[in-house]
Amino acid sequence: MHTVFDLGAYAVHVGDLSFGFPAWLRERDCSQVFVVADENTARHCLPLFLEKTAPLTPHPSPLTPHPSPLTPHSSLLTPGERHKTLATCERLWQQMLDARLDRRALVINLGGGVVGDLGGFCAATWKRGVDFVQVPTTLLAMTDAAIGGKLGVDFQGVKNAVGVFQNPAAVFVDPHFLQTLPERELRSGLAEVIKHALIGDPDLLALIESSQNLVQREAMLPAFWHHVLCASIAVKARVVMEDPREQGLRMLLNYGHTVGHAVESYFLKTPFPLAHGEAVALGMICESWLARTVVPNGHNRLARVIGAVSGTFLHQPVPEAAFAEIWAMMQQDKKNAAAAVRAAVPGGEPFEMQVLELTEGAVTDCLRFYNDLG
Ligand code: GLY
Repeated sequence: MHTVFDLGAYAVHVGDLSFGFPAWLRERDCSQVFVVADENTARHCLPLFLEKTAPLTPHPSPLTPHPSPLTPHSSLLTPGERHKTLATCERLWQQMLDARLDRRALVINLGGGVVGDLGGFCAATWKRGVDFVQVPTTLLAMTDAAIGGKLGVDFQGVKNAVGVFQNPAAVFVDPHFLQTLPERELRSGLAEVIKHALIGDPDLLALIESSQNLVQREAMLPAFWHHVLCASIAVKARVVMEDPREQGLRMLLNYGHTVGHAVESYFLKTPFPLAHGEAVALGMICESWLARTVVPNGHNRLARVIGAVSGTFLHQPVPEAAFAEIWAMMQQDKKNAAAAVRAAVPGGEPFEMQVLELTEGAVTDCLRFYNDLG
């Protein structure tokens, strides 16, 4: 199984890397390959990546008419959102300098959302930009973060505050990497799959609702995941092609993130950080509660979101004492216009969007609603 989504500027390949990647690389003229991995993906994914892609042979060019197979340089990041910082970028740029990466180099980001966002940002800014490929290894990155060209790092505790839009040269989604994930990480990724289903694919939502224990190992048949990944990627691809720079519809991909990002940032400073998807799942419940009287069938939508989320995620109460700080975080959100805090939620039909303006009181009420579900 090999499915290709053509996004115009680049393609997203879903299937075994050994089919798609070596052939793609042979069409390219690149001088070096530099793999960005973190300690987890270096251990669990890099050997498989190298096995599936060897030999890495680029296309002949006037500069290198007889290219030899490339020996990849690689870097090793400390895993985790806490390390998605400019300080980590500096270390990575230093490694690029040590490896003498020139402008014809190809950077391969092998990892989850942090590796893709940070590695992509470093590539997009290295020598004013070298090509990079996203090879996502988490469900979250396969279905969301690796697609659409959003790159960047957190700054002063504000998620993704510094970054750029820059498309990758290609994205390769190999479902085999899902086997390497801890269950919590797999569940976390399902939040983005549920989000895409709610935004634009009622059949995918029905599949999720009817599949109890979606993340159990025995349910992880390659054909099943191929189907789920392709359905989810199709929603993301349609949105980013219509609105690549988030002037309109792409705001809908932030469903659950206005509340979720702020809650995630709060928990990041505690000894009990939430996985990104756990925070987004919580955020989708809160924002659906806020939208229940605004969007058509809003009460029914809220019930379905609660059903889909609570079948996958544990309830995570948010301390009342944190509400003011969470509201302050939400005021930093990039979707805001002037002083208003805004959240985008799905409308009545697939790919319809409704934008809500939030107040501190409404946010307090939705967090209390969420807490009371426990
Ligand atoms: N993850 C949201 C977006 O790509 O726009």
